[in-house]
Amino acid sequence: MRLTLLALAVLLAPALAVKKQDFKECAQTSFCRRLRSIASRSEAAAAEQRAFESPYTLGSGAQTPSTSAGSWTFPLTSSLYPDISFSLRVDALEAGVVRVRADEVGSATKWRRYNETARWALLEAEPALSASASLTTADGVSTVSYGAKEDGLTLEITHSPLKIVQKRHGTPLVVFNERSLFHVEHFRSKPEPAPEAVEGAEGEGEGEGQKVLAAPETPDRSWFEAEDNDLFEERWKQWTDSKPKGPEGFSLDFSFPGSDHVFGLPEHASPLSLPSTVGEGSYYTEPYRLWNVDIFEYVADSSMALYGAVPLLHAHNKDSSVGVLNLVGSETWVDVAHTDAGVKTHWVSESGIVDFLLLPGPRPTDLFKQYAELTGPAQMPPQFATAYHQCRWNYNTQAEVIEVQDKFDEVDIPLDVTWLDIEYAEEHRYFDWDKKNFPDPVKMQDEVASKGRKMVAIVDPHVKKQDSFRIYTDSRDQDILIKKADGNNFDGWCWTGSSVWVDFFNPKSWEWWTRMFTFGVWKDSTKALFIWNDMNEPSVFDGPEITMPKDNIHVGGWEHRDVHNINGMMFHNQTQHAITVREADAKRPFVLSRSFFAGSHRYGAIWIGDNLGTWDHLAGETAVFLSNSIAGMSFVGSDVGGFFGNPSHEILVRWYQAGAFMPFFRAHAHIDTKRREPYLFDEPIRGYIRDAIRLRYQLLPTWYNAFHDAATHGYPVIWPQYAYFPEDEGGFAVDDQYYVGDSGLLFKPVVTEGATTTDVYLADNQPYYDYFSDRVFPASAKPRNVTIDTPLESFPLLVQGGHIVPSRQRVRRASTLMWQDPFSLVVALDRDGNAQGQLYLDDGEGYGFESGEYVHRALSFKSKGYAGSLASTKTGDNAADNAWAKKIAHVGVERVVVLGFRGLPSSVTVGGKEAEFEFKVANKGGESSVLVIKNPGVKVVDDWVIEIA
Ligand code: GLC
Repeated sequence: MRLTLLALAVLLAPALAVKKQDFKECAQTSFCRRLRSIASRSEAAAAEQRAFESPYTLGSGAQTPSTSAGSWTFPLTSSLYPDISFSLRVDALEAGVVRVRADEVGSATKWRRYNETARWALLEAEPALSASASLTTADGVSTVSYGAKEDGLTLEITHSPLKIVQKRHGTPLVVFNERSLFHVEHFRSKPEPAPEAVEGAEGEGEGEGQKVLAAPETPDRSWFEAEDNDLFEERWKQWTDSKPKGPEGFSLDFSFPGSDHVFGLPEHASPLSLPSTVGEGSYYTEPYRLWNVDIFEYVADSSMALYGAVPLLHAHNKDSSVGVLNLVGSETWVDVAHTDAGVKTHWVSESGIVDFLLLPGPRPTDLFKQYAELTGPAQMPPQFATAYHQCRWNYNTQAEVIEVQDKFDEVDIPLDVTWLDIEYAEEHRYFDWDKKNFPDPVKMQDEVASKGRKMVAIVDPHVKKQDSFRIYTDSRDQDILIKKADGNNFDGWCWTGSSVWVDFFNPKSWEWWTRMFTFGVWKDSTKALFIWNDMNEPSVFDGPEITMPKDNIHVGGWEHRDVHNINGMMFHNQTQHAITVREADAKRPFVLSRSFFAGSHRYGAIWIGDNLGTWDHLAGETAVFLSNSIAGMSFVGSDVGGFFGNPSHEILVRWYQAGAFMPFFRAHAHIDTKRREPYLFDEPIRGYIRDAIRLRYQLLPTWYNAFHDAATHGYPVIWPQYAYFPEDEGGFAVDDQYYVGDSGLLFKPVVTEGATTTDVYLADNQPYYDYFSDRVFPASAKPRNVTIDTPLESFPLLVQGGHIVPSRQRVRRASTLMWQDPFSLVVALDRDGNAQGQLYLDDGEGYGFESGEYVHRALSFKSKGYAGSLASTKTGDNAADNAWAKKIAHVGVERVVVLGFRGLPSSVTVGGKEAEFEFKVANKGGESSVLVIKNPGVKVVDDWVIEIA
């Protein structure tokens, strides 16, 4: 049935669809075929009730250098290749995380495995070891005790056959090599071609009286390893991968006993709770692939690779969450099997050392913090970047840029950033403005800036190979270009025509790239100009799978195959750095990237690439945002309206509503699409879009709180249901709605055509208040679905009882102009009549906040019988009278709305002074009580209490 449907879908597929044949399936790549087949062998053995035991064994006793407490190295051998030595190193880190590394020791060849992924992904390539961790060995099992005592964490390492179990208070959370799929391919010499048979030589040497030397016995490997003819060279379509190092793949096997849900492994257009890729009736048939590619018109529901890769997986059940971070930058495929005993995963990678970390949780929030401790918290974005961005491929002239922003003003729609795609640059030589169409870029940027707005211009990594182009000649002359296998500079095709690529792994390129963005060198740029890094997978139009050949060479002799998935992050990192330091007084940069890797969240925003303006893409994107978010990449959004196609008015409105709740909110469209800037539409469509954008501006303080939490604790900006309610099993697979930071705002985009109502899942025993009306959905002991009216102008936005949501109701043409406007607070009371909130404020552009120039308030409402009080207190240990606090000392709160207050207030006072209020009692029709306090006369920087009696 499924197949028939699929076949039908293919026949009826619209003209827009990914060219699947441009991208490999597992069976088309030799390491994946080889290593994935270990699992099939294990299954076949199980079916035939044959034993299938890991060939790997640890040597007896840890070799524990006395100086390195917290780190133990064991000799590792495989019965398949008894002559090859491996080592396995186990580190217990201070953060309560365990790190396991395996590598070949003393290879007989000149090759080494790539071991620098940690250097790029982690804050410290060697995070601090735990001095208190200990190891004991008994009966062939070494047990490491580590982490805080009360966490009861142990790692049990069984030596023969190798198995590692991470436990919390004796309960296994992660089992490594449970299914015996672990394997590390060793380096070997390319076999010499067999000598030509010599005529008449047959039988010689075997004659009577001759001594036959017994060949050394070769272990039978066929039960484990597949035969493969592509070990030293691999062809696909017109491309040949020379594979000089031969096979060096590895296979990892992680099982999560007791967990039925795994999340992560972005970027895929799949459900958030990753469905199975193997086993009977599996949802997908291909493993989740991590191989950054330029894949336009991608499928809305697929395990195919997209633009970014974070090899991080969370396994979750109602009692605990654990994480696996696999530090590998080469092509990786992950099979997920859902079994009665929990989820089992099988990871195969093409090259690099084995280097994985086990994050102990036990709650999703702990995982977020642990991951941020290792990789760093997210960048605190400049405030304008959290507002609305208008992009299109392309705004073609200077006059058009100004016209676009003026039109926004005419129809009273706010806008912060206007974007320039590749056509601004002469022959796509980024940095060089097309002076016919942009005769005075500085004047244009200044004019934009005079309205409080910014611009973003694209700078792609392909460099036009043209002697008159300084970026090309500089990078060629400094010898910092990526090379072909033969040692010559690689060239390929991209927007620029024949192009070369700078090797951003080469430290020599860094200082030079920084210089390219200084105002002295890039004379046509100003402080108001920020950057978009696209095509950094990298996209190479005439390369295999639209990217670079794997045997290309980076600095240090590493092959592109070793570092491919990290490549985009290196470019993003260096551009971000350049934008940060171009002003003497460093400012927060904004650089959007398409490609990403573990750690990219330190450098800025990403978007999910070339989506289609269709309902299925709109519907599927929420899960992609959430999956990216839990892996750190939560400054994320999609092209509002869809990159390809001409969406209907209805879908466009729905996309803007969704966009207003994407952490990164940018409209964008392909060059061949019809113009669709919001001002082009008649009412009521324009009004609906305006409402969505204005709502984003009103709620910017709430978004800023969430970004601040991401930058301080590593929390996602948007929270999936399972992370917000880790014990509510009914919500684990819910991936079509989410919470904004800790604000209690629950949003669900409407993603079906003609929907007049939408169901929202509520997990907990709290009232939920409709943000747009006085309607309340009462607390209930059981999780439930509630139905919300969603005519085109509306969508589900609820506030969970117990939260205080700050906003600024007056919207200006750009968010940067709103810094001294007064605040409004919505106080949504919980079952007990209480609520909490926060307000974090800084100058939105500099780094003063790092030295205490910020205001951070804790807001708290408490009910006492039929009375109540709302208090604002300072949090943080910065000076109350810091420079920023002084600057906004006059900014007040103009309105407080308390929802669900039980009493019938007779007075509202602040410091004994009466404040004006209105009260509407709750009614049985499902409306909550509403207390509106007008101009209470309090300032955001002060301590105050509003008393309600
Ligand atoms: C890529 C980007 C897209 C951009 C286009 C031209 O397709 O994903 O956003 O508009 O290149 O630069």
